[in-house]
Amino acid sequence: MEWKPDKKSKKAVYKQIAEYIEQGIADGTFPIDKPLPSERKLAEKYRLNRSTIVAAYGELEANGLVERKKGSGTTISKDIWGLTKKRIPSWNRYIERGSFQPNMPVVQRIRKESEEEHFINFASGELSKELMPDEYIRKVISTREFTGNLGYDHPQGNIDLRTTIVEHVKKYKGIMSQPNSILITSGAQQAIHLIIECLLKPGDAVVIEDPSYSYSLPIFKSAGIQVFRLSVGKNGINPEDLIDLHKKHQIKMIFLNPIFQNPTGTLLSHYQRKKILDISSEFGIPIIEDDPYSLLSFTEDDVSTLKSLDHNGNVLYVSSLTKIAASGFRIGWIIGPTPVIERLADAKQQFDFGHSTISQWLGNEFLRSSYFDEHIQRLKSELKKQRDVMADSFREYLREEVDYSLPKGGIHLWCHVKREIDDFKLLEQAIKEGVIYAPGLTLGTKKGYMRLTYGRVNANQIRTGVKRLATAIRKSSNM
Ligand SMILES: Cc1ncc(COP(=O)(O)O)c(C=O)c1O
Repeated sequence: MEWKPDKKSKKAVYKQIAEYIEQGIADGTFPIDKPLPSERKLAEKYRLNRSTIVAAYGELEANGLVERKKGSGTTISKDIWGLTKKRIPSWNRYIERGSFQPNMPVVQRIRKESEEEHFINFASGELSKELMPDEYIRKVISTREFTGNLGYDHPQGNIDLRTTIVEHVKKYKGIMSQPNSILITSGAQQAIHLIIECLLKPGDAVVIEDPSYSYSLPIFKSAGIQVFRLSVGKNGINPEDLIDLHKKHQIKMIFLNPIFQNPTGTLLSHYQRKKILDISSEFGIPIIEDDPYSLLSFTEDDVSTLKSLDHNGNVLYVSSLTKIAASGFRIGWIIGPTPVIERLADAKQQFDFGHSTISQWLGNEFLRSSYFDEHIQRLKSELKKQRDVMADSFREYLREEVDYSLPKGGIHLWCHVKREIDDFKLLEQAIKEGVIYAPGLTLGTKKGYMRLTYGRVNANQIRTGVKRLATAIRKSSNM
């Protein structure tokens, strides 16, 4: 039977055509000394739009398999069929078959758009350059002698940095630890990855918050983990829901971001924190406490970490320098029972032989400096101002359009668009207006929500960005 594209398949038709031609070149269906069929012919033959064939040939050209010249059509590349008869591997097939999952296309799109300078970027969850300890770090580099180790360091991370983290978490988070119960990672992201890879098995069921920090979702999928989501209310997840879920699915791990949660900004209430710890002890389910934001509190509310309340060793605690200093340090840490930390350190050594010693040295200088307190005070005060500018801008431009509750710390504001909107149309329109944010559907299951990060933009950008967003909401709901 003659080949034709399957228009119902999940695979894009242009990709099917590209693969068909690639296969045809390999098996001689398309002889090397003849031009390939013209775009028009193929479009007619398969009843497709010509642009689909152009995209297929474009992909083959990008992979070096074909050459396209104006006027003389498409021919098989001389380089692959030259004297040496060297074949170019079929990279497309490799790209698609790898077991590690790519990000969602919409997440990839947002990341690409965020690189464009002209956008007001409410999407990237990090601090602006002005809020980072830029000057201090430059001073350290120019005035201090590097005392770190330039060779491979200890698999758990530099001992000086781990010793500083022991003091840091004791002073700021009420957590008691030892250098041997700490592993330095490449940000909290790698910490989560290591935990999933080393402590869970395919088929295991875990709980995450809905919505939640979504960049870990493809990691769960790649590892074959079943993910169950628990809705985040005003005070975080409901502990009773956790028990119900455990009874049905034998939950193996709970991932929580209890303090100024990304994206909702909620603070898990003290009662709920205690209750969840009790459930963890009763059923023996470990908790992964992801805590990048607890130092960024704008009020006197209780922000004690689960780890500081955990007397049985049920919590693996994860944090990093990303939201309190700079994302580019890529310094994160896990605190937990020593055998667990050693297991994770062994895996980290297999992945990358440990974190950069220069970055660890700088991170240590910063964390142990007398400047650290001053930096955190300034950071909190600036972030609070930025949050307030965002709320003022909402009142000015979006008064009737969105519902939100003011976060009491952290860097994200989570809001709900009151009109019926199509989430993806709104994002497209916002991009046209020059503003970008994280759509709620990339972070969980709730429709009509947006996460706006006020940490990476200044007051003027916040006002302009919210105004652009208001235009996008109006235009996209009239479409
Ligand atoms: C809750 C949460 N966990 C982990 C991360 C990862 O941060 P990093 O790897 O930069 O420390 C983020 C970043 O946005 C986050 O919000």
